[in-house]
Amino acid sequence: MDKDAALERIARLRDVIEYHNRRYYQQDDPEISDFEYDRLLRELQELEKIYPDENLASSPTQRVGAEPLSKFASFEHASPMLSLANAFSSEEIIDFDNRIKKMAAVEDISYVAEPKLDGLAVNLLYDNGRFIRGATRGDGITGEDVTQNLKTIADVPLQIKKSGFQPIPAFAEIRGEVYMEIESLRKFNRRRLDEGGEPFANPRNAAAGSLRQLDPRITARRPLNIFFYAVGRVEGVEFKDHWEVLQTLQFWGFPVNPLIRQARDIRECIQYFESMGQQRETLPYEIDGVVLKVNDLNLQAKLGAVSRNPRWALACKFPPMQVTTTINNIIVNVGRTGTITPVALMEPVNVGGVTVSRATLHNEDEIIKKDIRIGDTVVIQRAGDVIPEVVKVVMSKRTGSEKKFKMPTKCPECNSEVIRPEGEAAYRCINLSCPAQLKEHIRHFASRGGLDIEGLGEKISAQLFDARLVGDPADLYFLTKEKLLELDRHGEKSAQNLLNSLERSKNPPLNKFIFALGIRNVGEHIAKILEREFGSIEKLMSATIEELTAVHEIGTEIAANIVQFFSEPKNRLVMEKFRRAGVIPRKAEASAKDSPLRGISFVFTGTMESMPRSQAKAIVEALGASVHSTTTRKTTYVVAGSDPGSKLDKARSLGVTILDEKEFLNLIGR
Ligand code: IVH
Repeated sequence: MDKDAALERIARLRDVIEYHNRRYYQQDDPEISDFEYDRLLRELQELEKIYPDENLASSPTQRVGAEPLSKFASFEHASPMLSLANAFSSEEIIDFDNRIKKMAAVEDISYVAEPKLDGLAVNLLYDNGRFIRGATRGDGITGEDVTQNLKTIADVPLQIKKSGFQPIPAFAEIRGEVYMEIESLRKFNRRRLDEGGEPFANPRNAAAGSLRQLDPRITARRPLNIFFYAVGRVEGVEFKDHWEVLQTLQFWGFPVNPLIRQARDIRECIQYFESMGQQRETLPYEIDGVVLKVNDLNLQAKLGAVSRNPRWALACKFPPMQVTTTINNIIVNVGRTGTITPVALMEPVNVGGVTVSRATLHNEDEIIKKDIRIGDTVVIQRAGDVIPEVVKVVMSKRTGSEKKFKMPTKCPECNSEVIRPEGEAAYRCINLSCPAQLKEHIRHFASRGGLDIEGLGEKISAQLFDARLVGDPADLYFLTKEKLLELDRHGEKSAQNLLNSLERSKNPPLNKFIFALGIRNVGEHIAKILEREFGSIEKLMSATIEELTAVHEIGTEIAANIVQFFSEPKNRLVMEKFRRAGVIPRKAEASAKDSPLRGISFVFTGTMESMPRSQAKAIVEALGASVHSTTTRKTTYVVAGSDPGSKLDKARSLGVTILDEKEFLNLIGR
């Protein structure tokens, strides 16, 4: 690139970044992913290194964010709130370490490694231990005074606790991140939608939008949390290293993330980065990377900062959870309840470490509201284990050649009528025997969240259905090797494997079984509640609308779906088939009152007529007992079937109670 072109590009990049700063900081409504923002910023930094010009001082690379909104009182930080340089790979992390080693002229640097929470940075002032004022970061020098709002967050200490560890400082700036947990956000968004409001796109926008409310009563109703991770100016207390800062904060009563670790060298930092990358999706809050900080505070001071970034700290970013891509086509998918869901087929992209090429568009209203068209460039995101979804269209990339999508009037699978029931957003295929629905039912039953039947994915489910071997999930348990061998793709071995997986799935946790049935609106969470409240499938099957709605979180709609499901003759038949096949769900984590056999130990010997040993084992375990293979003096019962063998003799010699099959069945109430 020649100089003129470079200067032009610099000017353009500055404009674009300023625009995105406003969207991010002032409107809490970013248009591009952090990843792309970082890329733009980097490009600008690189160009400015080669061609520094007279406008450098006002370039967005020299500032942290946008100026604070005028509606809040502005607040000058006692010491600047810096930002962090980013790294996107282990090579860049190693470069960072090498730079420091060179400057400090030492062998190994020890670090503190912290999860990088995706929320809003704040600075809290304490005067002789009392919380007096607090602000957002703003541009790093001046933020917005949000004292009243911060006071509504339960985890913000209003008074520093005395501890033997360190005295209470005369003055202190304590810094942390305000965030919203993913589950809280989901619940909150559901409520917003019910009330006709706009949901927040991600936890960070939710945290920012909630804290920056002029009316603190609104903030008070938002489920906000905070973790503290640094101090600014502190008077009257000396620290030697960052680890000590964090320990002290904890003693003083500030919540500090329990996943923060010390790392002896950069190798341990990289291990931490990788391990957090794996744990990321299991955490209750969103993190977008980890932060590494040189532990020694003297060394930190010596290293100093370049423009807005300290040289002693680094943000190591995970692959983004929000990225942009283009929509190649829109198709529809028929779900197990007949719902017709539009799905975007996209140019494959990596989102948070997973390649995705499909995103749900939910329903027609969503498509209209977001004005999504075939050919559009869109921002997509994947949060937790949620299916990717289109957040928004990048309107500035519209060319005019994009095509609008129309919902089909006939089911693409069975060609039946498609209707949109009144008051619902979804179109539905009304043919109860629509093959797409039946196949999807079977797949869902066997899926990971359901009975997790190994070897029974989408393809095999469809194959079994098409060959008329299976019409509903209960039929799976009546498959035989001979029948399976009729299917072209099935060899002896895979047939046996499938039969084994099916056998193993016969005593599923009750909540998994309830979920697997595929009752409308009964997801994993509701299934767990139903397990807890009803305890057995029989009780759930006979529950009335009143009994169901008496349960917290179960509304009339879900209750009606459950009652309707179990009163449908077809479904009752399926339930009866399950029973005959020996599919007996067990209640997980039985409470003391539901564990009549708690503390009792069994040994089984010989063959029982009424059930295989594996089933007997599952039943008594579900009732709180334990099962062992050898008899000792501590064994409570030895259950003897026919041809019992030497275990029976041993039981006799030890004086352990022996039950025959009938007595055993009696004991377990059958
Ligand atoms: S330290 C110089 N520690 O990341 C120290 N920041 O891009 C700067 N953040 O404004 C902050 N988790 O909003 C630090 N454990 C952590 C953090 C963290 C999240 C955010 C914070 C900060 C931004 C820097």
